[in-house]
Amino acid sequence: MTDTNNLAIEVAHLQKSFKGARVLEDVSFTVPQGTIFALLGSNGAGKTTTINILTTLIKADSGTARVMGHDFALSPSAVRNQISLTGQFAAVDHMLTGRENLELIALLRHEPAAHAVATTLLSDFGLAHTADRRVMTYSGGMRRRLDIAMGLIGKPSLLFFDEPTTGLDPEARQEMWTRIRSLSTSGTTVFLTTQQLDEADALADTIAILHQGKIEASGTSAELKRLVSSSTVLLEFSSGSIRDTAMKLLQEHHTVHAHTAETLVVDTDGHASAVADIFVTLRDGNIEIAGFSQRTPSLDDVFFHIAGDHTGVTSS
Ligand SMILES: Nc1ncnc2c1ncn2[C@@H]1O[C@H](COP(=O)(O)OP(=O)(O)OP(=O)(O)O)[C@@H](O)[C@H]1O
Ligand SMILES: [Mg+2]
Repeated sequence: MTDTNNLAIEVAHLQKSFKGARVLEDVSFTVPQGTIFALLGSNGAGKTTTINILTTLIKADSGTARVMGHDFALSPSAVRNQISLTGQFAAVDHMLTGRENLELIALLRHEPAAHAVATTLLSDFGLAHTADRRVMTYSGGMRRRLDIAMGLIGKPSLLFFDEPTTGLDPEARQEMWTRIRSLSTSGTTVFLTTQQLDEADALADTIAILHQGKIEASGTSAELKRLVSSSTVLLEFSSGSIRDTAMKLLQEHHTVHAHTAETLVVDTDGHASAVADIFVTLRDGNIEIAGFSQRTPSLDDVFFHIAGDHTGVTSS
């Protein structure tokens, strides 16, 4: 289906266990060059493990992967030359200044003009004014920007971002999204992990949901949304116990998903009669509704649908 030559990443049947505990059961996916791919999963799903394997930091137990056309088991150094990883925990040296960190990486990556490269990146990432301060005095957002700037040295064709916006405030988060989009526009392939559905929705050309060691679903945001019901009704109750009673009652005729402690999501076919039936059932059961809304599916619905049992949220 896809032209293999245009794939930045090709992963087939990756498996990885730690001390007998299986983390990756059977992970397969492809990432076309120049696109943004988001690996979405809950805490502990194996996102960082997948990135660590693809960036050759750890070895898979089995399975194959080609990164920018290079087999990661046969030619790990060729893979490393093409990629860059900006970490969930920034790889910057906090004792050094911003400029020193950048120059160090530029030297390690054999950039002939390390000073000039650092100057350009400091300016591009809004860090020129703090260039000569130790990183330990930087804010979280400034560290994250420096981390990404370091990742761009040597112009890697493939960038890995492990949870690029975790810990950033909303403004810094938007700014990071803009940077990631512009990297992609300039032809760089971006592989990112996230637990945030809106981030995957906003950024990724392709989203893959990692759950219980497997890619449970993948596709564009629109394709994933089509996996769940065409329309849902969100019901809000004043307590968890009322919600539980409502859930039992509605489950007799509807597909119901617990959403938060006090809310339920009911799938419908979008027709008024189906929606009306929900409210009639609740009225006949003397159940008070604190609020309601009708929604078209979001990526949250897809995630709850697929990963519901894992996140402690029940789905039918
Ligand atoms: N070196 C290791 N030794 C033992 N267990 C590990 C190791 N690295 C990861 N694990 C386990 O593998 C599982 C997946 O971890 P991983 O860090 O890949 O998850 P994640 O999806 O990145 O989670 P998070 O969203 O919290 O970053 C976890 O249960 C974790 O405890
Ligand atoms: Mg992680």
